This record gives sequence, structure tokens and C-alpha cells, in this order.
Amino acid sequence: MLKVQLLQVRFTKEERLCWHTSFHIGGPADYFCTPCSTAELAEAIQFARENGLPVHIVGSGTNLLVRDSHVPGIIISTKKMKGIFLTSSTEVTAQCGAPLAQLISATCERGLSGLEALAGIPGTVGGAVFMNAGGKYGSIAPVVQSVSTLTMDGERRFYDRSDLRFEYRKGPVTDEVITEVSLSLNRSSETQVRCLVTGILRERAASQPLSAMSAGCIFKNPGEISAGKLIDECGLKGQTSGRAQISPVHANFIVNLGGATASEVQSLIGLARRSVAERFGIELELEVTVI
Ligand code: EPU
Repeated sequence: MLKVQLLQVRFTKEERLCWHTSFHIGGPADYFCTPCSTAELAEAIQFARENGLPVHIVGSGTNLLVRDSHVPGIIISTKKMKGIFLTSSTEVTAQCGAPLAQLISATCERGLSGLEALAGIPGTVGGAVFMNAGGKYGSIAPVVQSVSTLTMDGERRFYDRSDLRFEYRKGPVTDEVITEVSLSLNRSSETQVRCLVTGILRERAASQPLSAMSAGCIFKNPGEISAGKLIDECGLKGQTSGRAQISPVHANFIVNLGGATASEVQSLIGLARRSVAERFGIELELEVTVI
């Protein structure tokens, strides 16, 4: 029997997660909620703890592969915690669910430089810091000034830049929810920032299947080598499993051609891993989170 209490945050039951992932794949979850504040997020986590339910924190579901079958526990999406505040002439504070694209556009308009390398990366600010999102022109790490989090015990924590350790596609916290991030940017001009952003967006559009349903790059790059190039050299571009396909545009993307299942995606993940291991002796590591 679930413990019931008066909650501000609203849960939906049996929510199909395919509606909340950029892959458009995923079965129903026991509970799904979209808290609007840190207080509501804390309530949702407490509800899960008191009822012994597993918790999965997601942003806008852009780096996520969700299984086809029932997902036990609570899925908490931060996408409604989306405030962006200019806190000084060069500092911006964003709530975890703020879309990265909106943050880039807001800082671009104000001629603030530092986030251009992230142009075109989908998802939320919290997700970007959690995994130190980036590309070949850099990652979010250098501009992160501080991070506020909520632990799974409901404790609020604050980390200053000097406490934060980032690695390649790995942010500074693991078992805590990032609730707010402050970024320290550099004064530039709108024209200059916009020019860089546009250039990176153009490059990305030419080399990645941006309009397809996908979860971005599936694997981390093993060191300096592009995982996409390795998979490509195994001749796997265009390979399908049911309605899932290794993108003919960039081999580190798996795309949903419409109606793909998580198990079809998993089968292509397995194929790419085996092929790259056999041919190059390299074990590819997943960049996407699988739940
Ligand atoms: N390449 C191929 N075949 C492919 C893909 C790439 O030959 O199918 C070659 C390219 O021609 C290029 C080299 O590999 O010479 C590098 O390719 P790219 O510039 O696309 O960079 P990447 O290392 O494959 C990384 C990030 C991307 C990010 C791009 C651009 C990772 C895992 N991937 O890809 O990030 O957009 O740089 O900055 O770090 C993501 O994280 O979701 C993602 C897509």
C-alpha cells in the first residue's frame, strides 16, 4: 500500500515515456511527474523514498533510451524548472530544466560568450552539466561557476567552482540532482557570438541527422578517436534492425525511422560494439543513459 500525503507535485500513472524522449521510444512508467520548483522536486523524491520506489531523473529526454516494457518507479522530468536569470553583467543562473538552446540564444542576444561550442546540442542545462556536454569546440565545464543540487535524502547542497571536477562527458556529481547552475561568461558582442553559433550550427547540420528522431551520439568517443568514424569504417552506416537505423549521415547516431523499439536500437548498439571491438580492439562505452 502506497503512503499517501498532501503533495503539490502531480503524478501521472502509466505515462508512456515515448512522449518524453527525443528517440520517441519507451514504455509506460509507474509514475511520472514534472515538478516546477526545487520544493516540488524534493517532494517527489521524498514520495519515492517513503514508498521504496526507484527514481530516474531526466531532463527533456534527449540523451535517453527507455526500454519498451514497463519502467518501474518514478520518472521525474525537470523540464518545467526552466528559469534563466541574468545575475550580473556576465553571470547567468539557470534552473536545471532550462533548454540549452534557450540559454544560448539569451546569452547570444546579450553578447555574452562562452557557450557557443554547445550550439545545436539538445537538452537541458542540468543535463548538460551532469554529463559535461560538448563537442569538438569545447564543453560546458569551463564556464560553470557553481552548481546547486538536491541529494536523494532531500538535502540541498551548493558547490563552488573550486569544488567541481569535470571529465570528458562526466559532470561533477553522480547521485545528486542538479537544480541550478551559475555560469560565468565573457563580454563580447552579439555579432561575434552569433557568428560563432551560426557557424557551429551549420557544421553540425551538415554532418549530423538533426531532424531525425535520435538520442544524439550513442557512444562516447574513445579518447581522441571519433566513435562515429570507427563504426563507419566497419561499414555499418545505413544498417537497420527493424525500424532503427545506424544513420547514413553520422554513424554514431542511431535513428528511429518511425515505430522503432528499444530492443531494435539495442541490437544495433550490440552490432556496433562487436564490430568495433573485433576490427579495432576498442570497447565502445555508451554516452546515452539506458533505463
Ligand atoms: N566521421 C566519419 N564517419 C562518421 C562520423 C564521423 O568518418 O560517420 C569523421 C568525420 O568526418 C570527422 C571525424 O570523424 O573527420 C570527427 O567527426 P565529428 O566532427 O562529427 O565529431 P565526433 O567526434 O564524431 C563529436 C561529439 C558530437 C559533437 C561533434 C561536433 C562525442 C561522442 N561526439 O562527434 O556530440 O556534435 O563532436 O562537435 O563526443 C553528442 O554528444 O550527442 C554529439 C553528437
